[in-house]
Amino acid sequence: MSAGLEVRGLNKAFGGLTVARDINLDLNPGDRKALIGPNGAGKSTFTNLITGILEPSSGSIRLDGRDIGRLSEAQRVKAGIAKTFQITNLFKSLTVRDNLRLPLLERRGLTGRPIRRADRDGGVEDEVESLLAQFRLSDLGDRTVQRLAYGQQRLVEMAMTLALKPRILILDEPAAGVPSSESPLIAEAIAGLPQDLAVLIIEHDMGLVFQVAQRIIVLVAGAILTEGRPEEIAADPRVRDLYLGAHHG
Ligand SMILES: Nc1ncnc2c1ncn2[C@@H]1O[C@H](COP(=O)(O)OP(=O)(O)O)[C@@H](O)[C@H]1O
Ligand SMILES: [Mg+2]
Repeated sequence: MSAGLEVRGLNKAFGGLTVARDINLDLNPGDRKALIGPNGAGKSTFTNLITGILEPSSGSIRLDGRDIGRLSEAQRVKAGIAKTFQITNLFKSLTVRDNLRLPLLERRGLTGRPIRRADRDGGVEDEVESLLAQFRLSDLGDRTVQRLAYGQQRLVEMAMTLALKPRILILDEPAAGVPSSESPLIAEAIAGLPQDLAVLIIEHDMGLVFQVAQRIIVLVAGAILTEGRPEEIAADPRVRDLYLGAHHG
């Protein structure tokens, strides 16, 4: 029994189409791994299997040795697995602080109450401020989300996800749609994540992937083609072919 996430022999088929093929993957505290692969490779399907949105056809998913493969999405969040909120889930007309209060109240089982009263519950406001500081959003806390730059909105997503205090964090294309002028914000935020968190990043921006990942897993047609250190992956001719093919074909 080991700490962290242990995926073994994971398979998923939609009718006759196999989209996850015998996937094995470990994510341990402190890991910074990236999952890359061309469009349609099965990256989203894999994350949906881990978070419980989809049910695998076969295989096992364990967290700290415990089989979590049959838990609901909400139960997996409670167990410590979180995927980043999507911008589409942000309340854009609410302030950054109010958005952060939502998952903090949720974690405490206080979802029924008005967020304005969050300050009556010990610790919520302290956590709001510390998350704002961690993501360098303190000066923007009272601004509505719609008035933030896109890259900053993506930081709010990340901060809201961390408010759930996950141990396994799945970052789903954190730089997608972020103009390159703001992409250092994302890299900096990932570098500032808690050391002992286990992070899996799915990302198309190879600059960012090579900046933050210690190991890279390459997924093709639902199966792991190879896994290695960034320099090994960069030097792998099969991976080069894949990306040249994807860009030109
Ligand atoms: N609900 C679904 N029903 C049928 N096929 C699906 C479904 N979701 C995804 N797929 C197919 O599974 C394959 C992998 O998709 P996906 O996981 O979204 O890839 P990626 O995220 O790497 O681009 C694709 O061929 C896609 O068309
Ligand atoms: Mg996808």
